[in-house]
Amino acid sequence: MWKFLNPIKHAIPETRWPSAEEAARSLLFKPVRIGSSELTSRTWVPAMVPWRATEDGFVTQANIDWYSRFAAGQPGALVVEATGVRDIPSGPLLRIGDDRFIPGLRQLVEAVRKASEGRTRLFIQIIDFLAVKRRPDQEKYFKRFLRITDRHRRTLAKTSNDQSWLGRDEAEVRAFLASTSDEALEHILDERELESLRFGYRERVTDTELTHVHELPQVLPGIFAAAAGRAREAGFDGVELHYAHAYTMASFLSARNTRSDGYGGRREDRVRLPLEVYRSVRECVGDDYIVGVRFLGDEVIERGNRIDDATYFGVEFARAGLDFLSISKGGKFEDAQQPKVGQAVYPYTGKSGYECMPTTLSDEIGPFGRNVPQVAAIKRAVNAAGFNTPIVASGGITTFEQAEGILRRGEADLAGLARQALADPDWFMKVRLGRGEEIRRCTYTNYCEALDQAHKQVTCKLWDRTGLDGPEVSLATDKRRRLLPPRWEL
Ligand SMILES: Cc1cc2nc3c(=O)[nH]c(=O)nc-3n(C[C@H](O)[C@H](O)[C@H](O)COP(=O)(O)O)c2cc1C
Ligand code: SF4
Repeated sequence: MWKFLNPIKHAIPETRWPSAEEAARSLLFKPVRIGSSELTSRTWVPAMVPWRATEDGFVTQANIDWYSRFAAGQPGALVVEATGVRDIPSGPLLRIGDDRFIPGLRQLVEAVRKASEGRTRLFIQIIDFLAVKRRPDQEKYFKRFLRITDRHRRTLAKTSNDQSWLGRDEAEVRAFLASTSDEALEHILDERELESLRFGYRERVTDTELTHVHELPQVLPGIFAAAAGRAREAGFDGVELHYAHAYTMASFLSARNTRSDGYGGRREDRVRLPLEVYRSVRECVGDDYIVGVRFLGDEVIERGNRIDDATYFGVEFARAGLDFLSISKGGKFEDAQQPKVGQAVYPYTGKSGYECMPTTLSDEIGPFGRNVPQVAAIKRAVNAAGFNTPIVASGGITTFEQAEGILRRGEADLAGLARQALADPDWFMKVRLGRGEEIRRCTYTNYCEALDQAHKQVTCKLWDRTGLDGPEVSLATDKRRRLLPPRWEL
């Protein structure tokens, strides 16, 4: 986990919870219109990957139980985890890249509807990502993965002053590289080869020499549209296009996207594919279906997007007709820490990762409502351009006072609570019924995120060890953690 140099430990904010009457009068619990639909309140649970799908990407009973448990708290909207739009293996993450995934997803929708008594709208976040390989063992990398070229031979000849390298065969070059020092490798390998050795091979949207990357603008609109069509068929109330964090669409938006085919460089060109994907989705699902987007208020990496890029994109998304804008921050590969050999780089381990899921070990600003300035700036720009597209804020929102304050000040239209909802999915119900004192408060120390990083079933440290031997309690594969929070009796 990334840390500030001299971190300040922040306490969880003390608060006064509202009575049921105050909650009823609040903005937070007033309905809000999103596209063609209405949410019962302005509360939102952003996408969180729980690592509960089958290895083939199908919905499991554990997925259904997970989302039903969130739905029982009756938030206004619940967003199902990042779900792959392609039909390719991606471990126990949900997929929607083929019709065979529809029946499982439909069961999930029905379970959420029942558990929330119809009070929660259910969206699904749809995602595309490029290849990321695990960090290789050094010996294997030189024996098998590195492609030996004449550039390597020329550099070896030059750095050793020995022209015979120019004619040496591949095995000799490999053997030499495997045995030479790290310092020498810095001169012989190029930047990408060094990265593949130290972090694992990772594709970028700028690798246009690869046919499948070059063709992304031609193939992605259709793939996203087909996925959205399946979401509609499965009964979801809408889709959230995942244009945030470290994945394909965010990489097209990024200021680091230098593609020269009209899909990179200037902001107008970087937003082109995201808009083409949206139009294709819209054409497939029709005007009466909710299509929103999640994107970044700031990429938090060098040479990355800042708030002026984000406000530009926000206005363009609103102009195009997206039904909601959900704002996140950071979560990039570019500043991620080096993984251990055999593990894949995780885009939430650098400063940008900190900003995505801030903890209480922070700077003077602290983790609470840390994204609100960016969200408010995007909202101002969107409203000034004449659009009233609802905007969702998330990032360290944990109390009623805080959420209500953000809405009252007009900084956002909806309040998203991810980790706080994970710690206690009944937050929404408890606040609405005037029983806020009973909320299990998230401590923002990211035990859940560490589980995500390790690709383990995500749980919260606050409910893990409670009533493990209860008759209806299902346990994680390690048998030490309960898979769902304890039940709250009304
Ligand atoms: C375990 C875990 C999984 C997450 N998975 C996703 C995801 O699939 N898609 C996404 O956009 N954000 C994901 N996030 C980020 C959250 O949606 C949210 O933006 C972030 O946690 C900050 O909000 P919070 O402070 O309310 O937790 C995840 C966060 C956690 C803790
Ligand atoms: S594990 Fe920690 S950070 Fe995650 S939801 Fe629970 S209390 Fe919050």
